[in-house]
Amino acid sequence: MKRILLTGALGQIGSEMAVKLRELYGDDAVLATDIRKDHSEAAQGGPFRLLDVTDGRAFHEAARAHRADAIIHLAALLSATAEAKPMFAWQLNMGGLLNALETTRELGCQLFAPSSIAAFGPDAPRQGTPQDTWLRPATMYGISKAAGEQLCEYYYRKYDVDARGLRFPGLVSHTAPPGGGTTDYAVEMYVYAIKSGRYTSYIGKGTYLDMMYMPDAIASVVSLMEADASRLKRRNAYNVTAMSVDPEAIAASIRRRLPDFELRFDIDPLRQEIADGWPDAIDASAACKEWDFRPAYDLDRTTDDMLATLHRKLPDSEKGAILL
Ligand code: SER
Repeated sequence: MKRILLTGALGQIGSEMAVKLRELYGDDAVLATDIRKDHSEAAQGGPFRLLDVTDGRAFHEAARAHRADAIIHLAALLSATAEAKPMFAWQLNMGGLLNALETTRELGCQLFAPSSIAAFGPDAPRQGTPQDTWLRPATMYGISKAAGEQLCEYYYRKYDVDARGLRFPGLVSHTAPPGGGTTDYAVEMYVYAIKSGRYTSYIGKGTYLDMMYMPDAIASVVSLMEADASRLKRRNAYNVTAMSVDPEAIAASIRRRLPDFELRFDIDPLRQEIADGWPDAIDASAACKEWDFRPAYDLDRTTDDMLATLHRKLPDSEKGAILL
Protein backbone atom coordinates (compact mmCIF):
# COMPACT_ATOMS: atom_id res chain seq x y z
CA MET A 1 0.00 0.00 0.00
CA LYS A 2 1.25 3.49 -0.81
CA ARG A 3 -1.78 5.71 -1.33
CA ILE A 4 -4.86 4.69 0.60
CA LEU A 5 -8.55 5.58 0.40
CA LEU A 6 -10.31 4.88 3.70
CA THR A 7 -14.12 4.72 3.94
CA GLY A 8 -16.04 4.93 7.21
CA ALA A 9 -13.13 6.94 8.61
CA LEU A 10 -15.14 8.42 11.48
CA GLY A 11 -16.43 5.06 12.71
CA GLN A 12 -15.09 2.90 15.54
CA ILE A 13 -12.31 1.31 13.48
CA GLY A 14 -11.81 4.13 10.96
CA SER A 15 -11.13 6.85 13.50
CA GLU A 16 -8.07 4.98 14.82
CA MET A 17 -7.15 3.47 11.47
CA ALA A 18 -6.90 6.92 9.81
CA VAL A 19 -4.46 8.15 12.45
CA LYS A 20 -2.32 4.98 12.36
CA LEU A 21 -2.19 4.85 8.55
CA ARG A 22 -1.05 8.48 8.38
CA GLU A 23 1.68 7.64 10.89
CA LEU A 24 2.83 4.67 8.79
CA TYR A 25 2.37 5.96 5.23
CA GLY A 26 2.44 9.77 5.59
CA ASP A 27 -0.38 12.31 6.06
CA ASP A 28 -0.94 13.00 2.37
CA ALA A 29 -1.00 9.32 1.43
CA VAL A 30 -4.27 8.68 3.28
CA LEU A 31 -7.59 10.09 2.10
CA ALA A 32 -10.09 9.66 4.92
CA THR A 33 -13.75 9.66 3.83
CA ASP A 34 -17.08 9.42 5.59
CA ILE A 35 -20.67 10.45 4.99
CA ARG A 36 -20.27 13.19 7.62
CA LYS A 37 -17.50 15.40 8.91
CA ASP A 38 -16.62 16.28 12.49
CA HIS A 39 -13.78 17.74 14.56
CA SER A 40 -12.01 14.44 15.26
CA GLU A 41 -8.36 13.84 14.46
CA ALA A 42 -9.42 11.42 11.70
CA ALA A 43 -11.33 14.22 9.94
CA GLN A 44 -8.89 17.05 10.64
CA GLY A 45 -5.44 15.44 10.70
CA GLY A 46 -5.02 14.95 6.93
CA PRO A 47 -6.90 14.93 3.61
CA PHE A 48 -10.63 14.33 4.12
CA ARG A 49 -13.54 14.05 1.70
CA LEU A 50 -17.26 13.50 2.16
CA LEU A 51 -18.28 10.23 0.49
CA ASP A 52 -21.49 8.24 0.38
CA VAL A 53 -20.22 4.75 -0.48
CA THR A 54 -23.53 3.81 -2.11
CA ASP A 55 -22.76 6.38 -4.84
CA GLY A 56 -20.55 4.35 -7.20
CA ARG A 57 -19.49 7.29 -9.35
CA ALA A 58 -18.45 9.37 -6.34
CA PHE A 59 -16.55 6.36 -4.93
CA HIS A 60 -14.61 5.88 -8.18
CA GLU A 61 -13.91 9.61 -8.48
CA ALA A 62 -12.58 9.88 -4.90
CA ALA A 63 -10.18 6.94 -5.46
CA ARG A 64 -9.11 8.20 -8.90
CA ALA A 65 -8.47 11.77 -7.73
CA HIS A 66 -6.41 10.48 -4.79
CA ARG A 67 -4.46 8.10 -7.10
CA ALA A 68 -5.23 5.35 -4.56
CA ASP A 69 -3.48 1.99 -4.90
CA ALA A 70 -5.41 0.56 -1.94
CA ILE A 71 -8.92 0.95 -0.56
CA ILE A 72 -9.76 0.11 3.04
CA HIS A 73 -13.52 -0.09 3.03
CA LEU A 74 -14.98 0.16 6.53
CA ALA A 75 -18.32 1.93 5.98
CA ALA A 76 -21.12 -0.44 7.04
CA LEU A 77 -23.97 -0.95 9.50
CA LEU A 78 -23.31 -3.20 12.51
CA SER A 79 -25.43 -6.13 13.67
CA ALA A 80 -28.11 -4.66 15.94
CA THR A 81 -28.80 -1.66 13.69
CA ALA A 82 -28.88 -3.97 10.68
CA GLU A 83 -31.57 -6.09 12.39
CA ALA A 84 -33.60 -2.93 13.01
CA LYS A 85 -33.14 -1.69 9.42
CA PRO A 86 -32.54 -4.79 7.29
CA MET A 87 -33.28 -3.20 3.89
CA PHE A 88 -30.97 -0.27 4.52
CA ALA A 89 -28.32 -2.65 5.89
CA TRP A 90 -28.39 -4.67 2.67
CA GLN A 91 -28.22 -1.52 0.53
CA LEU A 92 -25.34 0.00 2.49
CA ASN A 93 -23.30 -3.11 3.25
CA MET A 94 -23.68 -4.81 -0.14
CA GLY A 95 -24.06 -1.66 -2.30
CA GLY A 96 -20.99 -0.09 -0.68
CA LEU A 97 -18.92 -3.24 -1.08
CA LEU A 98 -19.92 -3.65 -4.72
CA ASN A 99 -18.86 -0.06 -5.42
CA ALA A 100 -15.57 -0.68 -3.60
CA LEU A 101 -14.95 -3.82 -5.68
CA GLU A 102 -15.86 -2.12 -8.96
CA THR A 103 -13.63 0.86 -8.18
CA THR A 104 -10.84 -1.54 -7.26
CA ARG A 105 -11.28 -3.47 -10.51
CA GLU A 106 -11.41 -0.32 -12.66
CA LEU A 107 -8.36 1.32 -11.07
CA GLY A 108 -6.33 -1.83 -10.36
CA CYS A 109 -6.09 -1.20 -6.60
CA GLN A 110 -5.91 -3.57 -3.65
CA LEU A 111 -8.97 -3.83 -1.38
CA PHE A 112 -9.49 -4.56 2.30
CA ALA A 113 -13.08 -5.54 3.17
CA PRO A 114 -13.83 -6.63 6.75
CA SER A 115 -16.04 -9.59 7.51
CA SER A 116 -17.09 -10.63 11.02
CA ILE A 117 -17.73 -13.50 13.41
CA ALA A 118 -21.34 -12.75 12.43
CA ALA A 119 -20.73 -14.51 9.08
CA PHE A 120 -20.99 -17.81 10.98
CA GLY A 121 -24.44 -18.91 12.06
CA PRO A 122 -25.93 -21.25 14.63
CA ASP A 123 -24.87 -24.29 12.54
CA ALA A 124 -21.14 -23.59 12.81
CA PRO A 125 -19.20 -25.29 15.64
CA ARG A 126 -19.19 -22.90 18.60
CA GLN A 127 -15.78 -23.84 20.02
CA GLY A 128 -12.64 -23.54 17.90
CA THR A 129 -14.84 -22.49 14.97
CA PRO A 130 -12.74 -23.48 11.97
CA GLN A 131 -11.68 -21.20 9.15
CA ASP A 132 -13.68 -23.31 6.71
CA THR A 133 -17.08 -24.41 7.98
CA TRP A 134 -20.82 -23.76 7.51
CA LEU A 135 -21.59 -20.10 6.87
CA ARG A 136 -25.33 -19.94 7.46
CA PRO A 137 -25.83 -16.66 9.34
CA ALA A 138 -29.20 -15.89 10.90
CA THR A 139 -28.91 -12.07 10.89
CA MET A 140 -29.03 -9.52 8.07
CA TYR A 141 -25.60 -8.25 9.14
CA GLY A 142 -24.18 -11.78 9.02
CA ILE A 143 -25.81 -12.44 5.67
CA SER A 144 -24.25 -9.26 4.24
CA LYS A 145 -20.85 -10.33 5.61
CA ALA A 146 -21.04 -13.91 4.32
CA ALA A 147 -22.24 -12.68 0.90
CA GLY A 148 -19.52 -10.02 0.95
CA GLU A 149 -16.84 -12.68 1.49
CA GLN A 150 -18.14 -14.58 -1.53
CA LEU A 151 -18.31 -11.41 -3.62
CA CYS A 152 -14.66 -10.62 -2.83
CA GLU A 153 -13.72 -14.18 -3.77
CA TYR A 154 -15.67 -13.83 -7.03
CA TYR A 155 -13.83 -10.60 -7.98
CA TYR A 156 -10.52 -12.25 -7.20
CA ARG A 157 -11.23 -15.32 -9.36
CA LYS A 158 -12.95 -13.50 -12.21
CA TYR A 159 -11.03 -10.22 -12.39
CA ASP A 160 -7.89 -10.95 -10.37
CA VAL A 161 -8.83 -8.18 -7.93
CA ASP A 162 -6.57 -8.39 -4.86
CA ALA A 163 -9.40 -8.30 -2.31
CA ARG A 164 -8.31 -9.27 1.20
CA GLY A 165 -10.29 -9.50 4.42
CA LEU A 166 -10.59 -10.60 8.04
CA ARG A 167 -13.45 -11.94 10.11
CA PHE A 168 -13.23 -9.47 12.99
CA PRO A 169 -14.42 -10.38 16.46
CA GLY A 170 -15.88 -7.72 18.76
CA LEU A 171 -13.45 -4.80 18.86
CA VAL A 172 -12.61 -2.97 22.07
CA SER A 173 -11.50 0.65 21.69
CA HIS A 174 -11.59 4.10 23.28
CA THR A 175 -11.59 6.66 20.46
CA ALA A 176 -14.94 6.62 18.63
CA PRO A 177 -17.72 4.57 20.24
CA PRO A 178 -19.02 1.56 18.33
CA GLY A 179 -22.56 2.10 17.12
CA GLY A 180 -25.30 -0.47 16.95
CA GLY A 181 -23.20 -3.60 17.43
CA THR A 182 -23.82 -6.60 19.68
CA THR A 183 -20.32 -6.64 21.17
CA ASP A 184 -20.49 -2.91 22.11
CA TYR A 185 -21.22 -3.96 25.71
CA ALA A 186 -17.51 -4.69 26.22
CA VAL A 187 -16.55 -1.12 25.34
CA GLU A 188 -19.39 0.31 27.44
CA MET A 189 -18.31 -1.74 30.45
CA TYR A 190 -14.92 0.01 30.53
CA VAL A 191 -16.43 3.45 30.04
CA TYR A 192 -18.98 2.97 32.83
CA ALA A 193 -16.35 1.41 35.08
CA ILE A 194 -14.49 4.72 35.02
CA LYS A 195 -17.60 6.91 35.06
CA SER A 196 -19.64 5.26 37.80
CA GLY A 197 -17.95 2.06 38.96
CA ARG A 198 -20.88 -0.04 37.74
CA TYR A 199 -22.41 -1.35 34.53
CA THR A 200 -25.62 -3.10 33.53
CA SER A 201 -24.93 -5.54 30.71
CA TYR A 202 -27.52 -6.23 28.01
CA ILE A 203 -25.65 -9.48 27.22
CA GLY A 204 -26.14 -12.27 29.73
CA LYS A 205 -23.77 -14.16 32.06
CA GLY A 206 -21.82 -16.92 30.40
CA THR A 207 -22.27 -15.57 26.84
CA TYR A 208 -18.81 -16.06 25.37
CA LEU A 209 -17.74 -14.07 22.30
CA ASP A 210 -14.40 -13.40 20.64
CA MET A 211 -12.85 -9.97 21.18
CA MET A 212 -9.74 -8.06 20.15
CA TYR A 213 -8.21 -4.71 21.15
CA MET A 214 -8.16 -2.04 18.43
CA PRO A 215 -4.34 -1.74 18.09
CA ASP A 216 -4.26 -5.46 17.25
CA ALA A 217 -7.14 -5.06 14.79
CA ILE A 218 -5.35 -2.25 12.96
CA ALA A 219 -2.00 -4.04 12.96
CA SER A 220 -3.69 -7.14 11.53
CA VAL A 221 -5.18 -5.17 8.62
CA VAL A 222 -1.79 -3.67 7.79
CA SER A 223 -0.02 -7.07 8.07
CA LEU A 224 -2.56 -8.77 5.85
CA MET A 225 -2.49 -6.01 3.21
CA GLU A 226 1.32 -6.01 3.16
CA ALA A 227 1.64 -9.82 3.22
CA ASP A 228 3.34 -11.53 0.30
CA ALA A 229 0.46 -12.76 -1.89
CA SER A 230 2.25 -16.04 -2.60
CA ARG A 231 1.88 -17.03 1.09
CA LEU A 232 -1.87 -16.46 1.16
CA LYS A 233 -3.89 -19.57 0.44
CA ARG A 234 -7.24 -17.78 0.77
CA ARG A 235 -6.47 -14.00 1.15
CA ASN A 236 -10.06 -13.23 2.15
CA ALA A 237 -12.08 -13.67 5.39
CA TYR A 238 -9.37 -14.90 7.78
CA ASN A 239 -10.56 -15.69 11.32
CA VAL A 240 -8.78 -13.41 13.81
CA THR A 241 -9.25 -13.17 17.59
CA ALA A 242 -7.28 -12.36 20.74
CA MET A 243 -9.60 -13.67 23.48
CA SER A 244 -12.90 -15.40 24.11
CA VAL A 245 -14.70 -13.74 27.04
CA ASP A 246 -18.07 -13.38 28.73
CA PRO A 247 -19.19 -10.24 30.62
CA GLU A 248 -18.10 -11.76 33.96
CA ALA A 249 -14.56 -12.32 32.69
CA ILE A 250 -14.24 -8.67 31.64
CA ALA A 251 -15.67 -7.57 35.01
CA ALA A 252 -13.12 -9.76 36.86
CA SER A 253 -10.33 -8.21 34.82
CA ILE A 254 -11.62 -4.69 35.62
CA ARG A 255 -11.79 -5.52 39.36
CA ARG A 256 -8.00 -5.95 39.42
CA ARG A 257 -7.91 -2.14 39.01
CA LEU A 258 -11.32 -1.19 40.41
CA PRO A 259 -12.09 -3.72 43.18
CA ASP A 260 -15.58 -2.33 43.82
CA PHE A 261 -16.73 -2.54 40.19
CA GLU A 262 -20.29 -3.87 40.05
CA LEU A 263 -21.74 -5.79 37.11
CA ARG A 264 -25.50 -6.23 36.77
CA PHE A 265 -27.59 -7.71 33.99
CA ASP A 266 -30.65 -6.52 32.11
CA ILE A 267 -30.81 -8.63 28.97
CA ASP A 268 -31.75 -7.10 25.62
CA PRO A 269 -33.50 -10.00 23.84
CA LEU A 270 -32.54 -8.81 20.33
CA ARG A 271 -28.81 -8.54 21.00
CA GLN A 272 -28.78 -11.66 23.19
CA GLU A 273 -30.33 -13.65 20.35
CA ILE A 274 -27.73 -12.28 17.92
CA ALA A 275 -24.89 -13.19 20.33
CA ASP A 276 -26.34 -16.68 20.88
CA GLY A 277 -26.09 -17.33 17.14
CA TRP A 278 -22.36 -16.49 17.00
CA PRO A 279 -19.36 -18.67 17.92
CA ASP A 280 -17.91 -18.72 21.45
CA ALA A 281 -14.30 -18.98 20.29
CA ILE A 282 -13.00 -19.06 16.71
CA ASP A 283 -9.81 -20.68 15.46
CA ALA A 284 -7.32 -18.16 14.02
CA SER A 285 -4.59 -20.64 13.07
CA ALA A 286 -4.83 -19.99 9.29
CA ALA A 287 -4.06 -16.29 9.89
CA CYS A 288 -1.15 -17.21 12.18
CA LYS A 289 0.28 -19.57 9.60
CA GLU A 290 -0.24 -17.63 6.38
CA TRP A 291 0.67 -14.07 7.42
CA ASP A 292 2.00 -14.32 10.99
CA PHE A 293 -1.05 -12.94 12.83
CA ARG A 294 -0.09 -12.56 16.49
CA PRO A 295 -2.20 -10.30 18.73
CA ALA A 296 -0.28 -8.43 21.44
CA TYR A 297 -3.17 -7.71 23.84
CA ASP A 298 -4.82 -10.40 25.98
CA LEU A 299 -7.78 -9.53 28.25
CA ASP A 300 -5.80 -8.08 31.16
CA ARG A 301 -3.50 -6.05 28.94
CA THR A 302 -6.54 -4.71 27.07
CA THR A 303 -8.22 -3.83 30.38
CA ASP A 304 -5.16 -2.03 31.74
CA ASP A 305 -4.74 0.05 28.60
CA MET A 306 -8.47 0.82 28.23
CA LEU A 307 -8.88 1.91 31.85
CA ALA A 308 -5.70 3.99 31.92
CA THR A 309 -6.53 5.70 28.61
CA LEU A 310 -10.17 6.40 29.46
CA HIS A 311 -9.09 7.74 32.86
CA ARG A 312 -6.73 10.13 31.10
CA LYS A 313 -9.24 11.19 28.45
CA LEU A 314 -12.42 11.69 30.44
CA PRO A 315 -12.89 15.07 32.17
CA ASP A 316 -12.68 14.96 36.00
CA SER A 317 -16.37 15.82 36.24
CA GLU A 318 -17.21 12.50 34.52
CA LYS A 319 -14.96 10.28 36.62
CA GLY A 320 -16.73 8.58 39.49
CA ALA A 321 -14.32 5.74 40.24
CA ILE A 322 -10.76 5.61 41.56
CA LEU A 323 -8.30 3.48 39.62
CA LEU A 324 -5.71 1.40 41.51
N1 SER B 1 -18.81 -6.02 16.51
C1 SER B 1 -19.79 -6.39 15.53
C2 SER B 1 -21.17 -6.29 16.06
O1 SER B 1 -21.33 -6.50 17.24
C3 SER B 1 -19.54 -7.79 15.05
O2 SER B 1 -18.81 -7.77 13.89
O3 SER B 1 -22.06 -6.08 15.32
